[in-house]
Amino acid sequence: MVNKIKKAIFPIAGLGTRFLPATKTLPKEMLTVLDRPVLEWAVIEASKSGIEEMIFVTSSKKNSIFEYFDRSLELESILKKKKKNKELKIIQNQNKLGNFTYVVQDEPKGLGHAVWCAKRFINQNENFVVILPDDIILSKVPVISQMIEIHKKTNGGSILALQSVPKKEVYKYGVIDPEKKINDFYSIKNLVEKPKPTKAPSNLTVVGRYILNYKVFTQLEKQKKGYGNEIQLTDSLISLTTNPGLFGYEFSGERFDCGNKLGFIEANVKFGLNDKSITDDLKGILRNI
Ligand code: G1P
Repeated sequence: MVNKIKKAIFPIAGLGTRFLPATKTLPKEMLTVLDRPVLEWAVIEASKSGIEEMIFVTSSKKNSIFEYFDRSLELESILKKKKKNKELKIIQNQNKLGNFTYVVQDEPKGLGHAVWCAKRFINQNENFVVILPDDIILSKVPVISQMIEIHKKTNGGSILALQSVPKKEVYKYGVIDPEKKINDFYSIKNLVEKPKPTKAPSNLTVVGRYILNYKVFTQLEKQKKGYGNEIQLTDSLISLTTNPGLFGYEFSGERFDCGNKLGFIEANVKFGLNDKSITDDLKGILRNI
């Protein structure tokens, strides 16, 4: 029996330079895919997977995120008065997504550093989730739920979401060196952050979903710099290969990298096609392009 995973860390302090000028005042996590900010899609996935505590590692420049996930009694009362019950339900359901905690990462020292900033909210020996909201995923079963199943099968192992990509694309991601395939998951013996295609140990790349063992903090504590002179999360994961182990799982679902323009537009089109109220009209528009 493994303990229930209740907490997710969302590293969201990044500047979002690839979306300038929009991100001059708007946090990139607040850019909307369909009718919700990118970040909310990730929070919904966590919530549907049983996560109760959403820990945002953010910067003091991103107050709109705090406002967005806070309850707005004023808006609720206006919607009530106007009898806009559908809209009222939408924002009331938002309040049920979980409890929100905010931690400030005051220096952009890398993803590993961002995760380490949330250490004090995780108990000793507690497993937790890390979600990078740039990656949003359309799937029947939320990806974190799929990964929790593998976590149980491996008796509490740390789990990485994987996607295979063409070899020439591996330089954008963390890449695993698989030891062997056991049923539908891999045991991992090593990882490399953003390798050159000729140096990559495989074409299985890490997507922004992790279930991690508390042990990872011991490694992160050392604040060792890696690729790009940043403290990389990938470099610390090797410390998790000892019992109960580190595993990778090729999830079912479609992943969109909203950290770049093309992925963001693709996500909007696919989430639009997934919304019954506009599917047919959107198909019509796309056919006429
Ligand atoms: C981060 C991680 C990388 C992972 C990727 C997934 O990179 O460092 O290992 O494959 O997210 O999106 P970033 O996209 O922040 O450069």
